[in-house]
Amino acid sequence: MDSYGRVADDLRISVTDRCNFRCIYCMPAEGLKWLKRDDILRFEEIVRLARIFVARYGVRTIRITGGEPLVRVKLEELIAMINSIDPTLDITMTTNGVLLRQKAQALKDAGLKRINISLDTLRMDTFKDMARSEAFERVMDGITASREAGLWPIKLNMVVMKGHNDDEVVDFARLARAEGYEVRFIEFMPLDGDNIWTNEQVVPSRRIQEQIEDLFPLEPVIDARPGPATRFKFADGTQGGVGFISSVSQAFCTTCNRVRLTAEGGLRTCLFSLSETPLRDLMRSGVSDDHIAGVIETAIWRKEEGHMINKAGFIKPAKSMSQIGG
Ligand code: 5AD
Ligand code: SF4
Repeated sequence: MDSYGRVADDLRISVTDRCNFRCIYCMPAEGLKWLKRDDILRFEEIVRLARIFVARYGVRTIRITGGEPLVRVKLEELIAMINSIDPTLDITMTTNGVLLRQKAQALKDAGLKRINISLDTLRMDTFKDMARSEAFERVMDGITASREAGLWPIKLNMVVMKGHNDDEVVDFARLARAEGYEVRFIEFMPLDGDNIWTNEQVVPSRRIQEQIEDLFPLEPVIDARPGPATRFKFADGTQGGVGFISSVSQAFCTTCNRVRLTAEGGLRTCLFSLSETPLRDLMRSGVSDDHIAGVIETAIWRKEEGHMINKAGFIKPAKSMSQIGG
């Protein structure tokens, strides 16, 4: 628990800072300076920390992120190791989807329960513009492969950027209805590697919701454990749904239940933290689980009240989304 009474029960683990895409809202075209192999947590180290979070603090959801998590070799082995901590854990992953045709079944077999796939556009040319990759069709096929493997529900993450893909919002709502996906519209946050973020490029969730509701009226979904997305189903009863992640226009910091572990073993209590608590070298120095747990508790207790985007004094973290894990 932190000093504001929030309980962190959702652990997000980044397994690599590398990626095979260069999304304009995340990474520079030339990539970033990658972590060295030895600086990245080994699977055993990740599992040791995950076990502490699950066994001592009741973490129920573990999300695997990157960079692109599937560029980490044999990732399904890590999923199986985490699953064996507690097979009822809600293990999920956020991926760009490009490797899912090869990996979806192995991930499902290892214990992955569901999946979020980033998809910002349904147009090949916009895909090239936004992901700076030619792999549009592979991503679409990866989504199909996940479904075939039984990774369900499938959530699609769309980062909406003015002038790039904001004219596709209604098409995504149609896709959600046609295929039964939940499409999550995410406001562009100042976590890009190119420092291009400005408030003018953010499309507020309210505007997106209005566009959708002009055609398809929505009904709120009441979640027992509210997450950052405001979720809706279609009022006419059609399958699928939409969600809005309004990090910029309506921060959800007061109910934030997340904590993040970077690929190099830094504990981050907020996406926008300006510092993190390094756990890797502590673990490698041979200390006990009790000792590590004490360090984790202190760090979580100090979780910041919230981010300051849009306020004077906001400082953009030095790390980009790909280095934090989303
Ligand atoms: N703003 C909002 N969302 C982002 N993502 C990556 N960078 C940003 C950003 N600057 C999203 C990705 C992915 C998830 C991990 O975070 O699209 O779906
Ligand atoms: Fe890669 Fe994801 Fe960043 Fe795109 S958003 S560059 S897919 S890590």
